[in-house]
Amino acid sequence: MSEIQQFLDFAISLAHEAGAYSLQAQRGSLKIESKTNAFDLVTHVDKHNEDFIREEVAKKFPTHTILGEEGGGNKQSAIGVKWIVDPIDGTLNFAHGLPIWCISIGIEVDGIIQCGVIFDPSRNELFTAIRGEGAYLNGEKISVSKTNDPARSMYVTGFPYNIGEDPYGDIKRFNRFLNKGLIIRRLGSAALDLAYVACGRFDAFYESGLAPWDSAAGALLVREAGGTTTHYDGTDFSVYKLSIIASNSIQHGFLEELVRDEFFKM
Ligand code: IPD
Ligand code: CA
Repeated sequence: MSEIQQFLDFAISLAHEAGAYSLQAQRGSLKIESKTNAFDLVTHVDKHNEDFIREEVAKKFPTHTILGEEGGGNKQSAIGVKWIVDPIDGTLNFAHGLPIWCISIGIEVDGIIQCGVIFDPSRNELFTAIRGEGAYLNGEKISVSKTNDPARSMYVTGFPYNIGEDPYGDIKRFNRFLNKGLIIRRLGSAALDLAYVACGRFDAFYESGLAPWDSAAGALLVREAGGTTTHYDGTDFSVYKLSIIASNSIQHGFLEELVRDEFFKM
């Protein structure tokens, strides 16, 4: 078994364990605190999951490092193995009892994301990918949609927690989709948005202001499922930069035209 497969298998087991804990905890009472503003929340479950993953990885792979949403870490690509962890993506949904959230783990080796897992405990859906070996949902190979007609497509996006200040011009960007009569959803979990592009439920996703843990596993899933990931300016995607367009490849040019603008170029 390859080293990367061993990392992925361990990540899957941790995601399953954290997922079971989270589902159980969601039925009880959650301890909730706000971070940057009233919508940017952290629950005791986010913290528990991240501490658990950090401890288990440190025991099994003492030389590996971790970058996590709650505990921080190195936000630049580096030599060595780095686990990029979102202990709950879709925390606001989770806190409201809405079953649209997941656990996301991407594993970077010497600056390149080599494998990733996104686990949705509410639906028992496990998305996995190894670089160069395709993307899978519960063990079945998945691929992006083949839709080339925007009028028959479904897109998805997300907004930063400070959308009231609109730091990246997202309101205008979103309006361009509405003005064209296009169908666009907002689910509240960037990792699941990406997983859903990978399996063809959505034709494309874009968002401004994402953090590495939101996209590390999901962007790899999209590429391994035959999709394309770039920044708004069309350059190759890096989890350490702020914007993402993830598409079924066929529509990437169309999305780039619609999403890019002078105000927020990245
Ligand atoms: C958030 C979700 C949301 C996206 C935000 C993220 P969190 O992550 O992925 O869909 O719009 O930009 O911060 O806070 O739920 O882990
Ligand atoms: Ca997140």
